[in-house]
Amino acid sequence: MAEQKVTETDVLRALSTVKDPDLGRDLVSLGMIEKVAVCGGTVSFTVVLTTPACPLKGKIESDCRRAVAAIPGVEQVNLTMDARVVAGRGQRGKQGIPNVSNVIAVASGKGGVGKTTVAVNVALALSETGARVGVLDADVTGPNVPIMLGASGEPHAENGKIVPLTAYGVKVISISFFVPEGTPVIWRGPMVGGAIQQFLNDVDWGELDYLIVDLPPGTGDASISLAQLIPLSGVVIVSTPQDVALMDATKSLAMFQKLEAPIAGLVENMSYFVCPHCNERVDIFGHGGAEQAAERLNLPFLGRVPLTPEIRVGGDQGVPVLRSNPESVEADAFRQIAAQVAARISVLSLGPGGKRPTWVPLPMMKS
Ligand SMILES: Nc1ncnc2c1ncn2[C@@H]1O[C@H](COP(=O)(O)OP(=O)(O)O)[C@@H](O)[C@H]1O
Ligand SMILES: [Mg+2]
Repeated sequence: MAEQKVTETDVLRALSTVKDPDLGRDLVSLGMIEKVAVCGGTVSFTVVLTTPACPLKGKIESDCRRAVAAIPGVEQVNLTMDARVVAGRGQRGKQGIPNVSNVIAVASGKGGVGKTTVAVNVALALSETGARVGVLDADVTGPNVPIMLGASGEPHAENGKIVPLTAYGVKVISISFFVPEGTPVIWRGPMVGGAIQQFLNDVDWGELDYLIVDLPPGTGDASISLAQLIPLSGVVIVSTPQDVALMDATKSLAMFQKLEAPIAGLVENMSYFVCPHCNERVDIFGHGGAEQAAERLNLPFLGRVPLTPEIRVGGDQGVPVLRSNPESVEADAFRQIAAQVAARISVLSLGPGGKRPTWVPLPMMKS
């Protein structure tokens, strides 16, 4: 049998038939294929995803493997999966935070719907995949992020910048680090904007793939300041399934749209309750309200979180469920939401027809 000589072009041609399902284009034109090497029948290459939290990582990997293995003459496929988070495209006239690729705001129409719970657990889930993550607690009226992440202490300054605390591998800054415990913080509008600006400009966030900003509820000063001060890669809106909360969520959505912030999508929290005694699923607030609303508003639905005691206890004790019970359905729910958020941020950041910018080496992701 005549020996087939495999070329780099053959490999790229084969890989150009593999699509990233979220981005809707082939991996070669997206600039995701790197380090192609052919040695006899052995083909090596690296697939560089737009986020280590890519929800379809497994599918992309097997599709690539299959496509290359089908090239006549290929005997062995050495595939490395890597990820480099795409930075947000920015918005007109707004300067981003140096070295922070994407700022993601978590918002809701009203309080108590689980915004902070979603923000911290999604942050941990993203960090778990190998992404570099920070959380900015912008809820100056009810700074709960430190409680939920079990982070306390006073950040120190270095070279004129505030160094964030770290909890579970995630960098954290909150106004509560700077005021004596138990002191109510009374803010007027311009002070809120000033505090947010300081947290964005005067904190040494280092290199971050995602900075998650936990906003106060509603459409107040913090949300407006944030959206006006820096380019947001996406806004995640959290709602409970019942109509009243959804109406509030819709108001928050309208505000961000007015400020031209890209919307990542909607999360439904306290979606359903599974009775620990009989395992029956109870839809306390009705079911699927947020998903229907997302459809109606033409927004991506990012997933649902069940109502469970573990989530509440984890929050109160400063050990988010992702760490207190990593194998639980709750933890998985947050992981799936984090993956959807990351995928959606990639889509928004890459934009239509977008190609990954020039190559910069980053640490390997954990598999
Ligand atoms: N899915 C859930 N299951 C159980 N308790 C939850 C859930 N989501 C949030 N909670 C609890 O509800 C309360 C309000 O949540 P929180 O995240 O602080 O809301 P927000 O930030 O929107 O005000 C907290 O005590 C939190 O632990
Ligand atoms: Mg909160």
